[in-house]
Amino acid sequence: MAELEKRDLVSIEDLSTAEILELFQHADEFRANLREWSESCRGTIMATLFFEPSTRTRLSFESAMLRLGGGVITAADEKNTSRSKGESLADTVRVVGGSYADILVVRHPEDGAARVAARYARVPVINGGDGAHEHPTQTLCDLYTLWKEKGKLEGLEVVLCGDLRYSRTIHSFCYALARFHANIVTMPYPGFELPDYVLHRLKRDFGVQAAAASVADLPGLAGSSNAAAYLTASKPHQLALFTNLTNIEVNRIDAIYMTRAQRERHSGEDTTNYPRLTRNTLGAAAAKDARVMHPLPRVDEIDYDVDDDPRSVYFRQAELGVPMRMALMSFLLGKIQLRSARPAVLSVTPGITAGAGLRCRNERCITNNEGVRYLTRDFRLRDAEVPPVLSCAYCEREIEARFVGHTQSRLVHRYNAAEARRIKPENRVYFESEAQALAAGFQCQGG
Ligand code: CP
Repeated sequence: MAELEKRDLVSIEDLSTAEILELFQHADEFRANLREWSESCRGTIMATLFFEPSTRTRLSFESAMLRLGGGVITAADEKNTSRSKGESLADTVRVVGGSYADILVVRHPEDGAARVAARYARVPVINGGDGAHEHPTQTLCDLYTLWKEKGKLEGLEVVLCGDLRYSRTIHSFCYALARFHANIVTMPYPGFELPDYVLHRLKRDFGVQAAAASVADLPGLAGSSNAAAYLTASKPHQLALFTNLTNIEVNRIDAIYMTRAQRERHSGEDTTNYPRLTRNTLGAAAAKDARVMHPLPRVDEIDYDVDDDPRSVYFRQAELGVPMRMALMSFLLGKIQLRSARPAVLSVTPGITAGAGLRCRNERCITNNEGVRYLTRDFRLRDAEVPPVLSCAYCEREIEARFVGHTQSRLVHRYNAAEARRIKPENRVYFESEAQALAAGFQCQGG
């Protein structure tokens, strides 16, 4: 596939920290008078392709483009698109991203779908939420809100509560918070903890280490188990706020981020005892300066009488979505320049094509669903040693590859054998097991 000279936003990692902070300044300018920018994107068309329900993301993007003077075309109900006849996402974005529209915003139920859209569309693609993978523009709104509320993002104390397993907003938010050296306390509904692949990535890429603990100082979370894990960027001073790792006392919370149970991604799990934030929670000394955040929609997890507390900022998060998305689209369309902008990157960096070998273990990944028809199984080498860790190029789920083969000799070795180390990177092919290598027509060597 040819190189794509465009910027996409599929993961929050597609923006540098400096770019994010500069986008906030532009969002402030847009926000100062939302009605002043109607010449900015005149003649530009944005398409919203939403194959899952949405209120805020789709409408705030559409509002943002209309305020910038551009036009909007939308597919808000997949039943009314040719997807219902079996058309693939790849074909849809090939058609819509070009003469139909200059920028696409895509929401899709399968993990990794946004990366597929970015790969096949000729125009910038923004991820409006793909399965349980990521929701990077929600994170931009969340960070922008926190930055305005707290005047900084560096070193904040943030409690994440609820369905941390399936909440894509949480996953993007974690990666971003880690970059700003936040201390993250996870307070999951039991069974809905942060997935291992998110924890591994926080540790490997940001030095954020998870440790189990219990929160003793956050009352009033109806239904809460008080079970928590404390993540720290392993800097001694960051432990100072906490008494110890077995009975954490949170002295100061900057934000409590609630999430709803992501029932559309559940398989009938019981959520009857799901946590609910009440006025009591905000009565805790540690929550004195906390901001209550939620990506919305809210179901039952924040009492309505918390809404008028000045610390509740969830409707502000939604409101700030319009100027934030105006800034983002202006940047991706080349209408504003960022001093810190890094060169355009490939939507999918050249990776490892697994051929008949590896398969993404995430059953919700687009490569195991509609992509079976047309996607190659691409992986990126995340960690070359102990044993090699590969991540799916679409949904980023990780696997350990304990066997390494040679594409020419068709011999396969254990990852730590001398023969494996001698194979040039361009000749390597990875497998999880001997059986997988044999099934792919390789011959196993001892080691
Ligand atoms: N926060 C969010 O993504 O809301 P919608 O599902 O309404 O777009």
